[in-house]
Order: sequence, then C-alpha cells, then structure tokens
Amino acid sequence: MQSHPLIVANWKMNTTLADAIVAFEAIKIGLEPIDDVKVVICPPFLWLTILAEKNQNHPIRHLSVGAQNVSQFEKGAYTGEVSASMLKNIVEYAIVGHSERVTHFFEKPEDTNQKIKLLLKNKITPIVCVGEKFKNKNSLQLVLQTVVKIFKGISQKQIASSVIAYEPVWAISSNPSAQPATGDYVEKVAHTLALNFNTKIIYGGSVNAKNIREFTICEHISGALVGNASLSAKEFLQIIKKA
Ligand code: PGA
Repeated sequence: MQSHPLIVANWKMNTTLADAIVAFEAIKIGLEPIDDVKVVICPPFLWLTILAEKNQNHPIRHLSVGAQNVSQFEKGAYTGEVSASMLKNIVEYAIVGHSERVTHFFEKPEDTNQKIKLLLKNKITPIVCVGEKFKNKNSLQLVLQTVVKIFKGISQKQIASSVIAYEPVWAISSNPSAQPATGDYVEKVAHTLALNFNTKIIYGGSVNAKNIREFTICEHISGALVGNASLSAKEFLQIIKKA
C-alpha cells in the first residue's frame, strides 16, 4: 500500500441520531492526532447533514461523510430517491453497487454505471463495490466482467478518480455463513483489478481490528470498507490506528 489508507465506515441502516452523533464525535476526537489516513463515515441519509455540520467547526480535514447510495436518476418523479446533485457539497464520497443493494433491491451493473456517471458529474467520488457471491474458480473472471460492465462508457481518467471496494459477498458479516477472506486471496484479486483499472482498491468483508493489517499490508490494497465493526467508535478507531 503506497498512499495514506482510505478507511470507510458503512453504518448501513443502523444507529439512532443520538448514537450517530456520539460515535461521530468520538471518532473525530480520536482522529485529531492521526493525519496519515483518510476516514469517511457513511451514516444513514438522514444523519448526513447533521454529521457534516459537526465537522464544520474545527474541521478534521481527513474526516468526511459519505452516502451509502444514490439514485440512478438525475431528478424528477422518483419517490423516496436521493439524487447526486442533492448530495453535492455535503458528501465527498458515495458507495454504489453494494451487494446488499444487489440482493435486496435487485440493482444491476447498469444501474451502478448510471449512478457513477451522476456522482462524477457532481464531483463526488464513487466507492464502487464489486465481489463474487460464491468463491470458486470463476470468481476472479466474474469480478472482472462485472467491473467492465459497471465502468462502461466511463473514461480512464474518471475511473482513476473512483475507488473500487472489493467485497466478496461470502465474506460480508451480514451473510450467515460469512468468513473473512485471507490477505493473500484479496491481494490476488486486487492485483488483477489493478492491472486492468488504474484506481484505488480497498477491501471489505468482516474487517475488524484483529485482521485489518492482513489487508493493509498488501501491495494493491489501499484501505478498507468496514460494516459491523465500524458501529463501535472504539473498535473503528483501533482499525484506523492499525491500518
Ligand atoms: P462487514 O460489512 O464489515 O460487516 O462485513 C462490510 C460491508 O458490507 O460493506
């Protein structure tokens, strides 16, 4: 890993507003003495502006908020959706294509592609999740094919300003039979992705304070996307320190 690690917290549909503020403040204080890292907190949509404001007085520049999703449509009659232009100036990053969106909301690589284009248009960095459902000999090929579809029509320069989060679905903690991937396995996939796409690659899937180093020591992995373990500010700060 070359540059400062990028550590992203994906709080998913968890936290009350009070929990979110307490955790965010604790992370902010914990980050004051550490500046060789970039930390992005992705809370539920409703808490975004509130947490972004918490970082406005005495801002910690290496801390920002990100969205967990964005609409694939630009604007208009799409009940319940949040557009990229609404997120502009509030978030620096947005997660797209997460496997939970694929499983529960049937999102396709084409939807992710539209989302990336709208995010880039609004100067928000997409964190593009990809990962195979099952581990087998075709996994790597499948991941590559999906990334090609997801980045269709997007220039090399724009791809370079995005982040790929390699998240094998079998390793995500919400999967009942989840097992974290090994550093060697993730490095192999990240290396292949790096040969094909000039972009930052981070790993996600049951990352915690005990295993984070296994991933961040890998040459082609530049950080982590952390779900469950990011809900505890204490554990998340340990992950950041170890990264
Ligand atoms: P996990 O989630 O760290 O709880 O496995 C990661 C993710 O789903 O992004």
